[in-house]
Amino acid sequence: MKVTVVGAGAVGASCAEYIAIKDFASEVVLLDIKEGYAEGKAMDLMQTASLNGFDTKVTGTTSDYSKTANSDICVITSGIPRKPGMTREELIGINAGIVKSVSSSLIEHSPNTIIIVVSNPMDTMTHLVHKTTDLPKNRIIGMGGALDSARFKYRLAEALGAPISDVDGMVIGGHSDKGMVPLTRLATRNSVPVSEFISDERLTQVKEDTKVGGATLTKLLGTSAWYAPGAAVSGLVQAIACDQKKIFPCSTYLEGEYGLSDLCIGVPVVLGRNGIEKIVDITLSDAEKAHLQESAAGVQKTNGLLEL
Ligand code: LAC
Repeated sequence: MKVTVVGAGAVGASCAEYIAIKDFASEVVLLDIKEGYAEGKAMDLMQTASLNGFDTKVTGTTSDYSKTANSDICVITSGIPRKPGMTREELIGINAGIVKSVSSSLIEHSPNTIIIVVSNPMDTMTHLVHKTTDLPKNRIIGMGGALDSARFKYRLAEALGAPISDVDGMVIGGHSDKGMVPLTRLATRNSVPVSEFISDERLTQVKEDTKVGGATLTKLLGTSAWYAPGAAVSGLVQAIACDQKKIFPCSTYLEGEYGLSDLCIGVPVVLGRNGIEKIVDITLSDAEKAHLQESAAGVQKTNGLLEL
């Protein structure tokens, strides 16, 4: 199992670190246009191998895509991150050009790869890869829902005063402050609906805190977060590499599911060796359906800014 991570910034490096630590891949290649940067990060990570007990080989390159050849999975994190006060949508101009050229270089050397898109605005960047490459839709995955769900579970555990391992919940919809749809109705504490423990008001607060999860961190850190995004990507990579058939909400190209077509947006999918093996079309309440429709309209609007 060979994994390439493009972009050795904070998200890319933390993603490579988590993949290496979990020790399921034989090789991780980091690539970054900043001269020497990916090589340096890779070397630093390799010097943790004896300490952290992994055998994954991490290497780095500045621009030699031949080193990424025959990757089973490629993760695209490259592009500019948000600054405080910016929305993910504002990054489209620069990031679209980067994601388009990076995906085409990756596919040239790894025609059978699965691509995971992390660059923002993520749903639109996933749509761009879908529209500008020949990869089948099961091999194009946008990472957003796994991260947003992790943030949702963090907020739920906080509100419940419960350990995170007791909590389950999922966020679907677009990976944007307004577009996220945290499914509070389906969230549970050890199989018991969370509404049995906390008030509607508190749940609404959890929902709102979840939706601005990334923005809150950007304000605190001065740039976009990296630990949880990196861990979320590594979770998707592991599910594919180890053929786990796990369900994650991921951005995928819809053709009628959830009443939506011709866009990539977060819905639950089964991840296995073939990438997205199934789109899980669950029954939503009328309010959830309306929220998802609204979220889709926002993603479509951003997609409209792409020069396809
Ligand atoms: C975030 C970025 C990765 O939500 O979109 O932190």
